[in-house]
Amino acid sequence: MTNQTSTAKLSFGDKELELPMYSPTAGPDVIDISKLYAQGDVFTFDPGFTSTAACDSTITFIDGEKGELLHRGYPIDQLAEKSHFLEVCYLLLYGNLPTAAEAEDFEYRVTRHTMVHEQMTKFYSGFRRDAHPMAIMVGVVGAMSAFYHDSTDIADPWQREVASIRMIAKMPTIAAMAYKYTIGQPFVYPRNDLDYASNFLNMCFSVPAENFEVNPILSRAMDRIFTLHADHEQNASTSTVRLAGSSGANPFACIAAGIACLWGPAHGGANQACLEMLKEIGTVDRIPEYIARAKDKDDPFRLMGFGHRVYKNFDPRAKVMKQSADEVLDLLGVENNPTLQVAKELEKAALEDPYFTEKKLFPNVDFYSGIILEAMGFPTSMFTPIFALSRTVGWISQWKEMLNDPKQKIGRPRQLYLGETLRDYVDVENR
Ligand code: CMC
Repeated sequence: MTNQTSTAKLSFGDKELELPMYSPTAGPDVIDISKLYAQGDVFTFDPGFTSTAACDSTITFIDGEKGELLHRGYPIDQLAEKSHFLEVCYLLLYGNLPTAAEAEDFEYRVTRHTMVHEQMTKFYSGFRRDAHPMAIMVGVVGAMSAFYHDSTDIADPWQREVASIRMIAKMPTIAAMAYKYTIGQPFVYPRNDLDYASNFLNMCFSVPAENFEVNPILSRAMDRIFTLHADHEQNASTSTVRLAGSSGANPFACIAAGIACLWGPAHGGANQACLEMLKEIGTVDRIPEYIARAKDKDDPFRLMGFGHRVYKNFDPRAKVMKQSADEVLDLLGVENNPTLQVAKELEKAALEDPYFTEKKLFPNVDFYSGIILEAMGFPTSMFTPIFALSRTVGWISQWKEMLNDPKQKIGRPRQLYLGETLRDYVDVENR
């Protein structure tokens, strides 16, 4: 924690309190209210944590007004252009870009853990074939704690490290197996001669009956999608991982909790929902109808892939993703992709509409990602599992940071209770 830089005065009733304030390296100052209940006998009320910092962190910073995303200080667009996913994993986990020797060692460690316990294949066969791959991911990742007993003791730094490497290494295998299971094809074992993204594509799209060459254009685009989703500070799923971890739960259980939270359409499920929306719109002439629905207070419909709690400007990931969608479709020789056309025109129409500009609603990371994933051959149901595998490193980095924080305590929010006060039980015949 930074040193106290100033004091905030809070007065209510006959009480006057002085609360410590801290200045971050970037972002707004924070008022420390941790002693508020003890000193003032009041709680704060902040549904959705819109004004509450639940931890201090050195990993990721978002400037929502500028539309800037930094990992350990490095802007996401530079990382997307110049780096690659495993290097970004190292950066998030350990704080700095690796030297050549550190990168080699890290990649070796990750690569040596790509296979899953063979018994886990039996676990998959307990699921219905038509299960959503996210349902399978939640179950299988949670079950990892039943397979890897030697890396569940969170008090042991070595076990924490092994669990972290295991999850980064195995998540592509687990996601690809979930996909293969739902389409009834045999599981494909990982290939350690391939890079991280190519290995994932190979596990998803190769079959034992034929030779399969991973397209390097798609492999690069896949790696960039992983990179763009790697971490995003204290979002809902990351906060879920931290909250689960605050009780001392094992790392596999914590990441399974994060995956469950990510699945919702307001969070990671938005990429699937967005592509489905773009397809439902279908043609450019139907855009005004959908814009009108998004603006209608009585219609629950929202433009998926639009808006963000923190960004009040372009999501910098969306900019890279849009450029990537153009490049990938171009390189694949796809001309006039109707979904991309609808997406571009919808973005334009929304950004010319005062409803969206006044509320500062801009495209987010999910707006263009589905178009690329679909061009690669993924069904929409795989979009959120791919988000989950990319975000695993962010969740783990934040979980490790939390465990190393001497101030860490079990997360336990308070409430504004509006229910009945004490009343006596009434026997059923007298109700
Ligand atoms: N379409 C239409 N109106 C919207 C949208 C949208 N996509 N997003 C926000 N609004 C309106 C909302 O109705 C509200 O209007 P009013 O002030 O008149 O009541 C105002 O904008 C503020 O919305 P909010 O729900 O209070 O904002 P929030 O910060 O709680 O929600 C959000 C952020 C991402 C959940 C929301 O923008 C949303 O539902 N977007 C669509 C889903 C989506 O694309 N999610 C992916 C987010 S990025 C990836 C990730 O983090 O997982």
